[in-house]
Parts: sequence; C-alpha cells; structure tokens
Amino acid sequence: MDDKIVLKAENLEKTFGTGKRAVKAVDGVSFTVREKEIFALLGPNGAGKTTTVKMLLNLVSPDKGNIQIFGKDMPEAQREVMKEVGTLLEGSRNLYWHMTVRENVYYFANLRGKSAKEVKDDMEMWAERLRLQDKLEEEVGKLSRGMQQKAAIICALATKPKLLILDELLLGLDIITRFEVEKLVKELKEISTLIISSHDLRFIEKVSDRILIINKGKVVAEGTASELRHKISYAKYRFTLRKNEESQYLEELKSIRGVEISFYEGNIDTDILELTFERPELIYDVFDIFRKFSVIPVEIDNLGEPFEEIFKSFVEGGENK
Ligand SMILES: Nc1ncnc2c1ncn2[C@@H]1O[C@H](COP(=O)(O)OP(=O)(O)OP(=O)(O)O)[C@@H](O)[C@H]1O
Ligand SMILES: [Mg+2]
Repeated sequence: MDDKIVLKAENLEKTFGTGKRAVKAVDGVSFTVREKEIFALLGPNGAGKTTTVKMLLNLVSPDKGNIQIFGKDMPEAQREVMKEVGTLLEGSRNLYWHMTVRENVYYFANLRGKSAKEVKDDMEMWAERLRLQDKLEEEVGKLSRGMQQKAAIICALATKPKLLILDELLLGLDIITRFEVEKLVKELKEISTLIISSHDLRFIEKVSDRILIINKGKVVAEGTASELRHKISYAKYRFTLRKNEESQYLEELKSIRGVEISFYEGNIDTDILELTFERPELIYDVFDIFRKFSVIPVEIDNLGEPFEEIFKSFVEGGENK
C-alpha cells in the first residue's frame, strides 16, 4: 500500500472563550492521514470534531499545534493547498442561500481555479447520482435540508479534489441517498483521500480505513474498525456442529489456551457451541480439532459486539479516567 502522507495534524489545541466560560474544545489532538485513505473522525456531540476540521481548513486558528497538508505548512500554504481540497462543513453552512445549486458549484470551483466548463460534467454526474439533477436551477435557500446537503456534497466533489474533508457527511440524507453516498465514498477513495465525520456508526465502520475516536477534545482511540473492536472485546462465535456419534472433540477444545467455551448444548447429532477467542487466529486451532474428529460446522455466527458498544466503551472509558 502506498502510504504517502497527505495530512498531518500535531498536537492541536483550541480553547473558546476566556476565564470561567472557557471551553477547551480540542486538547492535544494528533493524527496522520495517508493517501487514498478514508479516515473517520468519530465522537459524541461536542467532542471537538468540527473544531478540528475547521482548524484543518484554517477557518478557526489553533492556539497550538501544527498542520501540514500535501507536505506543506498551514496556514502559510493555505491558498495553494485549498485548490486541491473539497470541503463539506457541518450543516452545509458554506453555501450561498440566494444562489442556485449550479451557481454555487461554479462559484466554489472558481475559488479553486476551475472554470464552469471544467466542472460541468462532474457536477451533472454527481447531481444525477444524488438525485438532485432537477434542482440545479433552484436557489439553495429554497431546498429541503437534505437537498441542501446534497448540493454541498456536489460542490465539494465537482472539482475532483485530491483531499476531501466532509464533516457530518450524512446529515439530513434519506436512506436511499445514504446507500448511494456509501457507494460513492468507496469509489472516491480510488482517486482521492477522505476525512469524514458522521454519527452513523454502521456507516463509519463499513467505509473507514482508520477511525480516530475523540471525546472532550482528546483522542481516546485510533485504529481500523477491527483493531478497535479487538481492543475492547474478544472475538466470539456460535457454531452449529454436525458430529459423528460420541466425539471427544470437546475435551480437546478445552485444552486450547486462549479459547473459552462460553455455551454448550449437546444433542444427538448436532451440538451448539459458543467460543470466545482471546486472539482471532486461534480459530485455526479450533478448526484443526473439528477436522480431526470429523465434526462439521454447518453454521457459524459472529457474536461480536455491535460497533455501537465498542464506541461507547471508548467514550465512557475515557470519561472514567
Ligand atoms: N465558536 C465557538 N465558540 C464557543 N464554543 C465553541 C465554538 N465552537 C465550538 N465550541 C465548543 O467546542 C466544543 C466542541 O465543539 P465541536 O463543534 O467541535 O464538537 P463536535 O464534535 O463537532 O460535535 P457534534 O457532533 O455535535 O457536531 C463544544 O463544547 C462547543 O460548545
Ligand atoms: Mg460537529
């Protein structure tokens, strides 16, 4: 995998207000995003995601910390770097309400040094995919909440940016559009690098290469979805097994270190067995024993914790510290 670094944030800090009213929104956040990666910022309301995103885009200036995008120091390289960055701000607030969708797309393209002609085809293609093609000539202020979000996404994508920073990507989108966005995010990864935030954990788990969980301005975990899962809970599977007569496989299973039998129900020709694995690769040892005793797994269910539980453990764990 090409691991060229696209964005590096080091020790970002931001406090809003002063004295008793001061809120430390971001408190020492660091992360690195590599080329063609989908990098997710995850955290509860008020965690500091939007403030972090705004610092990356120089819409909020950090009190401390360094940001490099495409190897260039920010904010000095702002003008040059932003030409290659597509942005979606929380609540599509960056759009001009009195301009049509088309005018907005051309306006933001122009800021990035691209002409209307250069972005027209992409705009129409994305509008079609997001089912907004009939609204291109409408004023943004007159569109529904979800349509405004679609318009903002089209503005971000139309210039084929090398880096996309999309805060609250799914905000206000209907279910069908969410599925479409899921598909297009995966396609965009082929040509671009993405930093996204969303409260839809199922979506984040599915599309992200790496996830940064922040809470109260601090990083509480970082890794792939499966790395995060394994930090919190052991792999757990339920097997439905077809066996031959009186098989002694159970005794042998008990002898594998790191595998625990958490449930067993023996029937005449099938057994139901739930196993907890300290390390996922121990499943090979289990299969060796199944093979040795001619026990055939006819059904295997993953009983792993839903990602919501993993997320909660990190956030609540961080609060107990
Ligand atoms: N302009 C501002 N002035 C004062 N406080 C602010 C400002 N912007 C953000 N904050 C505070 O900073 C903290 C972090 O807010 P931020 O918007 O970054 O959170 P978030 O992770 O994006 O949350 P959400 O999931 O609700 O969008 C919050 O306590 C918020 O009240
Ligand atoms: Mg936010």
